[in-house]
Amino acid sequence: MDADVAIGPARVLTLQGGVRRGKNIDLGVMDPGWVGVRDGKIVYVGTERIEAKRIIPAEGKVLMPGFIDPHTHLVFAGSRVDEFEMKIKGKSYMEIREAGGGIMSTVRKTREADKEELKKLAKERLKRMLSYGVTTVEVKTGYGLTREDELKMLDVICELQEEFNVVPTFLGAHDFPPEYSREEWIQEVISMIPEVKDKAKFADVFCEDGVFTKEESRKILMEAKKHGLGIKIHADEIKSSGGTELAGELGAISCDHVVYPSEKGLKLIKKCGTIIVLLPGTSFFLGGDRPPVERMREEGIPLAVGTDFNPGSSPILSLPLVMGIGQVHYRLTPEEVIAGVTINAAYATGVQERKGSIEQGKDADLVLLKYRDEREIGYWIGENPCELVMKGGETVG
Ligand code: NIG
Ligand code: FE
Repeated sequence: MDADVAIGPARVLTLQGGVRRGKNIDLGVMDPGWVGVRDGKIVYVGTERIEAKRIIPAEGKVLMPGFIDPHTHLVFAGSRVDEFEMKIKGKSYMEIREAGGGIMSTVRKTREADKEELKKLAKERLKRMLSYGVTTVEVKTGYGLTREDELKMLDVICELQEEFNVVPTFLGAHDFPPEYSREEWIQEVISMIPEVKDKAKFADVFCEDGVFTKEESRKILMEAKKHGLGIKIHADEIKSSGGTELAGELGAISCDHVVYPSEKGLKLIKKCGTIIVLLPGTSFFLGGDRPPVERMREEGIPLAVGTDFNPGSSPILSLPLVMGIGQVHYRLTPEEVIAGVTINAAYATGVQERKGSIEQGKDADLVLLKYRDEREIGYWIGENPCELVMKGGETVG
């Protein structure tokens, strides 16, 4: 075995074996296990001790795949700390939005910022995410909301790929900008799709009562699908609005938030293998309900977990913190949140061929926990669980 780096003997959570679903989630544990890395790739996973130029001792520690955050809005300027105060005084997310706050207030600041400034802010956030073990991040547009500003955001997201593992999503349908009529903005978003299709991997829509209706969302997403983009939907976040059903009707890769899905929606997405991306940090920050996790589990719908990092409903950068919140507030099991930020998040972002599990040939994106038991991630809530973070074979934190 010719490896540059060997890590072991560790309790290795391989997560080999594809997407996880249902009541008994197996993390593919190899204990004690050794992992060998060469040229940025995993070249060995097994129980035999191996030699290498550099040995990272890992006795009594857990080694697992780098975390994947499958849902963020991390490119934006400004903050919404004033709204935070309104929220604490009892105003709801929708009330704040109607009072001129919400998404449009971040849109105004993001439009004013140039590409360099947005990139600088995004890089700082991605570096902090890396320190929490997050080696791949899905990032959405959606704070530009003019053709020019949406393309500016998408360019920033693509340029971040030079340094980070970033998966770009086009979210022109995040809200309705006041400069356009409703119909005009929908047409504008549709007309942008041929232009964004080679840069973005997914298209997403905020399908919710009071934002994009199910039929408006369908129109936009059908066009995206026609141009080869994968489909994601912000579905049933604030009330049941048909988004989960639409995800099933269109064969979406993921439907996200999903606090108030209909029974019909759950049945439909089960059939087409859509992954539910749960965002427990958002429910926690907005003081909202938990989703019907038991029904999702019973139906065997795969669950992923993300931060939804954004300045309005989830100013939470730490995916490990959100894993803890997922356990406390959503009553997810430790195995569900771990699969939810590794192999299932890889499927939700379309990177499962290269990431999400520890297996030969995949990218050497790894996290060595400072714990001997992976359940401690959620238990020591708010702590950074990482002792070492490796991205593409390089130690980055
Ligand atoms: O995912 N739901 C829509 N979009 C974001 C919130 C964005 C914002 O408030 O700026 C979300 O929660
Ligand atoms: Fe979101």
